[in-house]
Amino acid sequence: MSNSINPIVWQEDRVLLVDQTLLPLACKVVEIKTYQAMAEAIRTMIVRGAPAIGVSAAYGLYLGAKEIQTTDRTIFLEKLEAIAATLRQTRPTAVNLFWAIDRVMATVQEATGNIPELQNLILDTAKAIHNEDLATCQAIGDQGLAVLPEIPEKLTILTHCNAGGLATAGYGTALGVIRSAWRENRLGMVYADETRPRLQGSKLTTWECVQEGIPVTQICDNMAAHCMQQDRIDAVVVGADRITANGDAANKIGTYSLAIVAKAHNVPFFVAAPLSTVDFSLSDGKQIPIEERDPKEVYQIGDTRICPEGVQFYNPAFDVTPAHLITAIITEKGAVAPDQLINFKG
Ligand code: MRU
Repeated sequence: MSNSINPIVWQEDRVLLVDQTLLPLACKVVEIKTYQAMAEAIRTMIVRGAPAIGVSAAYGLYLGAKEIQTTDRTIFLEKLEAIAATLRQTRPTAVNLFWAIDRVMATVQEATGNIPELQNLILDTAKAIHNEDLATCQAIGDQGLAVLPEIPEKLTILTHCNAGGLATAGYGTALGVIRSAWRENRLGMVYADETRPRLQGSKLTTWECVQEGIPVTQICDNMAAHCMQQDRIDAVVVGADRITANGDAANKIGTYSLAIVAKAHNVPFFVAAPLSTVDFSLSDGKQIPIEERDPKEVYQIGDTRICPEGVQFYNPAFDVTPAHLITAIITEKGAVAPDQLINFKG
């Protein structure tokens, strides 16, 4: 199955990350050898996208764990918790980060064995999270085929941000559905929102499509309503950073307005995400912490300031799309109406 890029690679004693801040102008690999470097790579978005930061944080825990010098289990666990706390502080919205760290910590806490054995267990768990994510995304892509509109022509699908191979262990969630539709000869065109302010759509989604020969048209974010009014869009498929028990979904800023516009034009609006993105501990989207990033992302293009002095800025990185605007949530176990998501609670 096609998977154009491995954004995260484990290699002996280090993690290789494709530096996503440089794409598409350069495809440079960064070597991460310490948990501090991993925390910084997540914070600065060298690696980004909810599942990808979960996988990276799990490897980060191992990089930290292997440096802990003790034979005492209690001291080891205390130091490991401090490393986990550093990794948890990097980005607040994507629940996969916390899900992956919690999974590793629970596995270690439940295990018996000496310190080298616990260290090996952490690496094995990180590798399992990594491998499972690739298989999960491929399943999400294929589950999406069941709910995409059946029309005589090939589909035109609009997506926002980058929920592709780069944002996961490979294949992608929203872009996974798009990849599967392409494989099945059901896709005619992807419309990629540019996704201000960091431009993940124009820099990353278009790049991934071009790598695989998937036809892609880039638009500015404010062109989506016009495109729907012109009947250019058959479906919207986006990813998610955290979905609450009632089916509200946090995703890249601009997703909510896209959902409103899709509803106004009777265009189906799908959220594609693994069940690890569902936070069943939160009842609704109002409880999701929304990351605010450096205002420079808004007032600068590259290193050039584009706004006068004296202006104030607000830079929320995510918004919450209420469940009633979502046609279906596509998971690895199937696509369901948002109010049915609760049936997947483990
Ligand atoms: O700020 P980013 O680039 O990490 O935001 C990414 C998104 O919003 C994605 O749509 C989401 O994480 C899903 S990735 C499969």
